[in-house]
Amino acid sequence: MNIKENEQLQGCLEKVKEKNRRDAENGRIRYVYIQTFGCQQNEADGEKLRGMAEAMGYRYTSDAEQADLILLNTCAVREHAELKALSIIGNCKRLREKNPELIVGVCGCMTARQQRVDQLKKGYPYVTFTLEPASLHLLPLVLCRVMEEKRRRFLLGEDDGEAAEGVPVARTHKHRAYVSIMYGCNNFCTYCIVPYVRGRERSRESELVVAEVKELVEDGCRDITLLGQNVNSYKSDCDFAGLLEKLCALPGDFLLRFMTSHPKDVSDRLIEVMAKHPHRMAPHFHLPLQSGSDRILAAMNRRYTTEHYLGIVDRLRAAMPHVTLTSDIIVGFPGETEEDFAATLDMLRRVRFDMVYSFLYSPRSGTPAAEREEDFVPDDVKGERFSRLLALQDEIALEANRRYEGETLRVLTDSISRGDSHMYSGRTAAGKLVHFPATQDAIGQFVFVKIERADPYALHGAIVDA
Ligand code: 5AD
Ligand code: SF4
Repeated sequence: MNIKENEQLQGCLEKVKEKNRRDAENGRIRYVYIQTFGCQQNEADGEKLRGMAEAMGYRYTSDAEQADLILLNTCAVREHAELKALSIIGNCKRLREKNPELIVGVCGCMTARQQRVDQLKKGYPYVTFTLEPASLHLLPLVLCRVMEEKRRRFLLGEDDGEAAEGVPVARTHKHRAYVSIMYGCNNFCTYCIVPYVRGRERSRESELVVAEVKELVEDGCRDITLLGQNVNSYKSDCDFAGLLEKLCALPGDFLLRFMTSHPKDVSDRLIEVMAKHPHRMAPHFHLPLQSGSDRILAAMNRRYTTEHYLGIVDRLRAAMPHVTLTSDIIVGFPGETEEDFAATLDMLRRVRFDMVYSFLYSPRSGTPAAEREEDFVPDDVKGERFSRLLALQDEIALEANRRYEGETLRVLTDSISRGDSHMYSGRTAAGKLVHFPATQDAIGQFVFVKIERADPYALHGAIVDA
């Protein structure tokens, strides 16, 4: 569905816009506050929420106290993320007391489950509406309804199974952007909630993706990340490698990245296309391993073995000797023994990832692994394994980063580094985080940084002339 061509949605958008225009005329500007939790896909959704809110005449604020519309874009992938979101939703009670006209919308993965929606309905009376990820584009509709009917709405299951097009996007950065190429996931890894909350895989038409990337590049964007839960199973009139070929053919000075990949779907052709376009394709591959034990991988329904995984790593490195590799690891999946965990550490030693995002297994109700209570790994054992994994990975990452000491790297400057107004940070083509002194005008620009020092997580240096 293209929302620009949907009369009902456009009508709702216009109605809310008109109301906000009248309010502004009467001296009451309406503000929207948006908080996003979780993954890049959610960040991209947050940019759409903001785009739609701005199209309806809301002005963006980073201060929740000032808001008339609060949109909380939640994550459900681990319990910790859900608890954090619930606590922030709880804060809205006080804000509503202060501003009785405040509309609180809870969006994102948490709101795709009936159980959570019921909880929000009953336990959080100041939540005005919920909107699951597949129905994100219906924001104007739900807002219009809650305003007109003066009652709460909980939208669930209205998804028509298609990727919505034409949704306005308010981009956070001009120089760096996310472009969703597909939504949902069909893989059903046994620990993962994503297929239940984001639905089945839907790929966008390649023509629309190409047009969006082209427009971004023409607008000065230098670094574009193609997003999907499993980009390697992208399928429209072409496959993922085919889509990359089309994008690589676009003119301009920009880099293409993508995430996330599933090892079972990485094709030789994808590696070939990456290697063929070294100036266009970022030399970085994020390839979640999840566990180094074949027994656990099978229990996770990952459908590959460590041998298969190592084969991909070899082919990637043969095709692109400087490729950086990053991964996700889950520690303490139900039934994980010390031997299984040792196999994971062994894989880290063999592959030598540049960076690993490690997670403590978190049971998600409704997923098969969460049923295996008798096999749950005790928290103290999980914690201890987690620390060992971090210590080993820190050593490996430090060694990997030390390779860059003394080298001069091209870096796209992103923002001020936390806590120091003279320090800026950016990323290299390979995705390495770099900190260096600079000034505001460096943001969005490529600079050359001579690396003086490395730590396990970042490189530190100073700008030099090209
Ligand atoms: N518990 C812990 N980590 C999880 N992930 C997904 N589901 C869970 C879970 N239930 C991790 C996986 C995935 C990453 C985005 O989050 O490693 O790759
Ligand atoms: Fe979750 Fe597996 Fe799909 Fe990734 S591939 S979103 S881990 S089910």
